[in-house]
Amino acid sequence: MNEKKIQLTYEVYDDIKDLPAEDRELLALARNITAQAYAPYSHFRVGAAARTEKGLVTGTNQENASYPVGICAERTLLAAASSIFPGLAIGTMAVSYQNENGKSDRPVSPCGMCRQALLEYEGRGGRPIRLILSGQSGEIIVLKSVSDLLPFAFTEEKLR
Ligand code: THU
Repeated sequence: MNEKKIQLTYEVYDDIKDLPAEDRELLALARNITAQAYAPYSHFRVGAAARTEKGLVTGTNQENASYPVGICAERTLLAAASSIFPGLAIGTMAVSYQNENGKSDRPVSPCGMCRQALLEYEGRGGRPIRLILSGQSGEIIVLKSVSDLLPFAFTEEKLR
């Protein structure tokens, strides 16, 4: 038996003002775009903003009276980007949220389905997608790659 260890290194910032200018801009956009979410059921409004070589792309969660039909902000963004520019590489994506009670001072964490979708998108783009995760205020987490969020992932080459 061999015991193996997976190590994860990530950055933690106390405040948006501590981020480099480009990341500050992206996170501010993700925070603002939460206002455009369609979340009448959960009242959990999520905004995602990505920097690409074609410019900035955004997405918000889009819910539905038939609950499972709803789609998260991250996957809305990926679908929008890829529909307009197929395979468009994303350098960095910022995600933020606001909830019903107005408390939003802890980093958001992408759901499992989004991690899977983001990972495949990362593979298509051929470069790591950096992730900036935060609420409207408070601590900010920066990850170097989506793959850090999904060890032992099921990926395209495993189909063959
Ligand atoms: N949601 C996102 O859009 N992204 C996340 O990272 C977490 C969850 C959405 C899905 C649903 O519309 C609402 O937040 C509550 O789960």
